[in-house]
Amino acid sequence: MKKLKSTILACAGLFVTASLTSGAAAGNSLPAPSLKSAYKNDFLIGVAINQRQFTGEDTQGAALIKSQFNSISPENVLKWEIIQPRPGASGYDFDPGDRYVEFGETNGMYIIGHTLVWHSQTPNWVFLAEDGTNYCDRATLLKRMHDHIQTVVGRYRGRIKCWDVVNEALQDNGELRKSPWLKIIGDDYIAKAFEYAHEADPDAILRYNDYSLENEAKRRGAIALIKKLQSEGVPVTAVGLQDHVKLDWPTVEQEDATIADFARLGVKVMITELDVDLLSRSRSADVAEMQKQVLSNSYTNGLPELVQQALTKRYADLFSVFLKHRNDVTLVTFWGVTDGDSWLNQGRMNHPLLFDRQWRPKPAFAAVIQAAAKP
Ligand code: XIL
Repeated sequence: MKKLKSTILACAGLFVTASLTSGAAAGNSLPAPSLKSAYKNDFLIGVAINQRQFTGEDTQGAALIKSQFNSISPENVLKWEIIQPRPGASGYDFDPGDRYVEFGETNGMYIIGHTLVWHSQTPNWVFLAEDGTNYCDRATLLKRMHDHIQTVVGRYRGRIKCWDVVNEALQDNGELRKSPWLKIIGDDYIAKAFEYAHEADPDAILRYNDYSLENEAKRRGAIALIKKLQSEGVPVTAVGLQDHVKLDWPTVEQEDATIADFARLGVKVMITELDVDLLSRSRSADVAEMQKQVLSNSYTNGLPELVQQALTKRYADLFSVFLKHRNDVTLVTFWGVTDGDSWLNQGRMNHPLLFDRQWRPKPAFAAVIQAAAKP
């Protein structure tokens, strides 16, 4: 408990300003300045959005997106299982993707495409032979990959400015994940995906996107992968650090070193899926204690004060690292608008983002704005 108290004191200064902002929000007015204006000289501020938001069904969500963010990522609608659920040219369903891109254009936003080649949310038929049981051969899978990338990237050419071409290709130990892509095509599936994407839109920024790149072994694997691709002339132009972080992982030092390591390779660095999971297991006793408090409160909307403050400080710390690297970091994207939208709820009530379930800014919002104002 002693440690917990010192955490409160450490962020007491932050908290005073933060409470002022949440007070303002109780009157339901949107906060000023906005995230995008606070960071306009530093990097874009993005958010992953869902169908209810870009179709306007979630009016409050849509309003918040327009007022706070200048870049969008599609939380799900451009994933293979949604945009090409069935094989062949007739197997595409472009409608949700089209609406997503139109929303971004109408609101003058920097539009991200996510994601082309991934082991998850990809239908089984992609990897299977005609018999429906065995894997298909290399040539067949390369052709399916080429058709998909040509069709999808080509359709939004010049409109989607940046694509996650390959997502999560590495294991925690830094070796290539033994996905069907690797098993069927071999190591060069990554290079092929980037080549096909470049062919379909030569002006798009092409990202390699992954999680936990702050950890030593995985980071080393990613650096080796990017270097190898670069030496082969493969057009990988950005690295996405997903940053699904916890209160105590990664450390500020790890985040700092990770951004610096990738920047050194000459690629743009983007934070692509930021959120702070308050519920995933932690080794440190004080964080474990906070998690107990969050869980015991999980049937009310409230986030215990102490945890609210820890989250606030966590966001302030992260943004000061991003700002330190503002010459290399070009975009910071949150993975969801409000806590209610977050993929991290999974049956439990989580509180990972800057806006609460009533679309109101949390104290962490004020802390992020304040971080931008620091000289
Ligand atoms: C998640 C979405 O947020 C969920 O709605 C979906 O059910 C599963 O995928 N890494 C990624 C994202 O690259 O696409 C994932 O998004 C979160 C982890």
